[in-house]
Amino acid sequence: MRKTDFITDNSVCLAPMAGVTSSSYRRLCMEHGASFCYSEMISAKALTLKDKKTYKLMEFSPLERPFGIQLFGYEPEIMAEAARIIEAELDPDFIDINMGCPAPKITGNKSGSALLREHDLACSIAESILNACSLPVTAKMRLGWDGFSSLELAKRLEAEGISAIAVHGRTAKQAYKPPVSYDLIGEIRKAVSIPVIANGDITDESSADNAVRLSGCRSLMIGRGSEGDPFIFGRIRSFLNDGVVLPKPRDNELFETLFELCDSLCEEKGLYIGIHEMRKHALSYLRGFPGAASLRNAAVKLETRADLEELVRRALSLKYS
Ligand SMILES: Cc1cc2nc3c(=O)[nH]c(=O)nc-3n(C[C@H](O)[C@H](O)[C@H](O)COP(=O)(O)O)c2cc1C
Repeated sequence: MRKTDFITDNSVCLAPMAGVTSSSYRRLCMEHGASFCYSEMISAKALTLKDKKTYKLMEFSPLERPFGIQLFGYEPEIMAEAARIIEAELDPDFIDINMGCPAPKITGNKSGSALLREHDLACSIAESILNACSLPVTAKMRLGWDGFSSLELAKRLEAEGISAIAVHGRTAKQAYKPPVSYDLIGEIRKAVSIPVIANGDITDESSADNAVRLSGCRSLMIGRGSEGDPFIFGRIRSFLNDGVVLPKPRDNELFETLFELCDSLCEEKGLYIGIHEMRKHALSYLRGFPGAASLRNAAVKLETRADLEELVRRALSLKYS
């Protein structure tokens, strides 16, 4: 059995989010209690073509371990070749197969959630990757394409040798519309003996509690709930482990992490791209602040770290004046 001992009872991992979960973002979340994390989705084809941007997306620091590289694609041989390269050149803790992305530009190529209606192909991809490398291989999927059909696929993936499955409790057709069905994630969990990680709309202790109760899963995955709040991982883990509800971070603690992200992102991607990417992160941090419209306006125009500092000063003065 390939080792996935980082997936433990009450582990709470950071979901892969293309365009959001950069190396800097992942580091911040790991620092604040995420149990493990994934790269943004990586095109297997682009990787095998040695595309520079794709290589950049796969960079990670030891502080992000346990770290998995998530591949998308539809050609078993290309996926296998990508896995071989990943193991030889990057040696992450695991490789994950994207079977959940509903974006038409991905599913149009039989990749992402399109694999949920091509079970033979999904299994053949899993088999090829498993034969090509000795890393643990996991899958991230949804409940099905247009109905609940992933249970059979999960069983087949387990038989192929997949080590764990993360399930976003929606169908591909639903995209991000409600509801999330934790009970159906639970049906998948009951059908396999590998860990099943429950995902979808976990944003606080009560939604985490709900996800655990209804799915019976011992591990959770958080995506959007971490945006603007990296402390969420520590809070949810404390709640799951000890039943203790930790206080929410104070504004100054929260904004410290925003500046930490800014500095780290500018180092990772260069000043120009770093600050531009900070615009969306700033928006997330300012959610719920009074005067949100004018703050949003300023956030989407950030050009420098000083602009960010000024924005935070304004946000705090609007809140406390
Ligand atoms: C902006 C964005 C980018 C995403 N990118 C990926 C991705 O690269 N790979 C993937 O498997 N899922 C991706 N997802 C889906 C998330 O991993 C997660 O399954 C989904 O957001 C539901 O979890 P949440 O409600 O905790 O956010 C993405 C989601 C968002 C919002």
